[in-house]
Amino acid sequence: MRSYASSIAFFFSALVLFLVSFPGLVPLAVTEPSIDDPSRVTQISWRPRIFLYEGFLSDEECDHIIKLARSKMKRSMVADNKSGDSRKSNVRTSFGTFLTKHQLRILSLWSKDEVIARIDQRIAKWTFLPEENAEALQVLRYQEGQKYVPHHDYFFDPKNKIRGGHRYATVLMYLSDVEKGGETVFPIAEGASSQFKDDSWSDCAKNGLAVKPKKGDAVLFFSLHINGTTDPASLHGSCPVIEGEKWSAPKWIHVRSYDNPQKPSSTEECSDYNENCSYWASTGECQKNPNYMIGNDAVLGNCRKSCMVCGESKSMRLIS
Ligand SMILES: *[C@@H]1O[C@H](CO)[C@@H](O)[C@H](O)[C@H]1NC(C)=O
Ligand SMILES: *[C@@H]1O[C@H](CO)[C@@H](O)[C@H](O)[C@H]1NC(C)=O
Ligand SMILES: *[C@@H]1O[C@H](CO)[C@@H](O)[C@H](O)[C@H]1NC(C)=O
Repeated sequence: MRSYASSIAFFFSALVLFLVSFPGLVPLAVTEPSIDDPSRVTQISWRPRIFLYEGFLSDEECDHIIKLARSKMKRSMVADNKSGDSRKSNVRTSFGTFLTKHQLRILSLWSKDEVIARIDQRIAKWTFLPEENAEALQVLRYQEGQKYVPHHDYFFDPKNKIRGGHRYATVLMYLSDVEKGGETVFPIAEGASSQFKDDSWSDCAKNGLAVKPKKGDAVLFFSLHINGTTDPASLHGSCPVIEGEKWSAPKWIHVRSYDNPQKPSSTEECSDYNENCSYWASTGECQKNPNYMIGNDAVLGNCRKSCMVCGESKSMRLIS
């Protein structure tokens, strides 16, 4: 009897230990900021389009993301311009990791991490861009001296565009405060020279339009113009951290679905990229919404097959 009772006790204490060793499994009382307050959004620039949301994440949410990522940090990579393969580079010296989308727990059948799921929904609500177009959250850590030299979030290689098309927008969330340095800098953004900066800014930040990392704040910027062409002015970098440690989390949102990418049916010029293309075509969207459905001189549309424009305007090309 006694040994039976003690093995039950052992089983339950082992179970409790197992549960608490997985962050996120035990329900958390995490504050969720409301995002219905337009007074907390500032337009930083219109060329490129950059917006700052103050207090987009609560302190507990920031700490929760760091907790999920901390043990998985690896040296960050860049996409090779030609092959699209990931490789190490001195232009990017941070450490980082991708969380699983919604950070599914242990077995993918288990319920999702509510905190991450809520943040994903909040991003969709703020940007008006579908959750399924976004990649999983990446978490980055920059220690003193670490940086990411100015670069574009859109791709130069064809390989990385297959799934979901170009990266359209980036929501960059700051998970920690940084004593000095670590600003996000847009070197060629409009207004770069007129932004007033005192000595609390690093020299790197003084070379452009810059945003100081502040725990819980989020920056949204667009890498493509409204007409779908790439915007070179979206060039941006992470200034070296001078004092302290910077944690941030970029969310990359693509032009099309990243979760359920539609395979091109034949050629790029003759494809439907959305399962609803034929329905939309039947309701007259090819005429009503030609830029999206058919495309224009700069970009191919998403429903060219259903709009039956294959073979027409063969000169159309994808600008990358
Ligand atoms: C890729 O090419 C662009 C444009 O030529 C250049 O600005 C950028 O630095 C290159 N990126 C890398 C990682 O080599
Ligand atoms: C297609 O349309 C249905 C019904 O409106 C909608 O539920 C579904 O999400 C749409 N699919 C895509 C990929 O937009
Ligand atoms: C797309 O929009 C940008 C910004 O307004 C403009 O500079 C560019 O010429 C446009 N490209 C095309 C092909 O319409």
